Amino acid sequence: MTRFRERDIIESPNIWRWPEVYERENEAQDATGALWDTVAELAPHGDADVVDVGCGDGYHLPRFAQRARTVVGVEPHAPLVDRARERVAGLPGARAEQGSAAALPLPDDCADVVHARTAYFFGPGCEPGLAEASRVLRPGGVLVIVDLDATRHSYGSWMRASAPRYDPGAAERFFAGHGFAVRRVDTLWRFADRTTLADVLRIEFTPAVAQKAIDGTPGLTLSVGYRVHTRREPVGLLRP
Ligand SMILES: C[S@@+](CC[C@H](N)C(=O)[O-])C[C@H]1O[C@@H](n2cnc3c(N)ncnc32)[C@H](O)[C@@H]1O
Repeated sequence: MTRFRERDIIESPNIWRWPEVYERENEAQDATGALWDTVAELAPHGDADVVDVGCGDGYHLPRFAQRARTVVGVEPHAPLVDRARERVAGLPGARAEQGSAAALPLPDDCADVVHARTAYFFGPGCEPGLAEASRVLRPGGVLVIVDLDATRHSYGSWMRASAPRYDPGAAERFFAGHGFAVRRVDTLWRFADRTTLADVLRIEFTPAVAQKAIDGTPGLTLSVGYRVHTRREPVGLLRP
């Protein structure tokens, strides 16, 4: 097992403490497929070797495995690594490894796409992960970072109310300054029932904000904005 530093790990109470609710959240997300369409367009993964950094319990690994040659999920939190391994057991070309974005347990030049969804790459501080992604990506490979857009829709205002110190503008400037293009994507989350919707909002926000969000959301859907940041590795340059 590759060693990684505990201080590199970003606490993720939503999926660490409530993995079953988080599973329902993942099922609700991207009901129209807009986010997957964007990822497929900006980081084509047909026949590619894919790394999913901060894969949690591997929810997205089977989806990548449908088209990719191989997919490796990397996740530091041991119970989630176990769940991810169970999820991909028997799925050809798919596996999960314990590790951190800042110390990927992978060799140089082994991947065509490195993907991270709402994991680790939140802006300033994630430089070690950017360097690691560059190390494992082949020339021409793409790092694709999918994150929630806290500037859009009610969901974004609930995010800012729950985490007032998070500065979405600083995150965007950080990625632009590191050579990333950005695409904004509007998505729909569609829940099976109101109980699930309320459970999900309660694991994402402080109790007061969650209650406001539940009361302010009629029906079973939510509009949620994302930022998709992409950066391609240079081709044809000699690297040290
Ligand atoms: C909100 S969850 C998202 C999980 C998954 N990407 C998904 O969409 O289902 C964030 C994940 O990032 C992981 N994480 C935290 N620190 C990390 C690090 N330094 N490197 C890689 N992943 C990390 C957490 O353990 C957690 O599983």
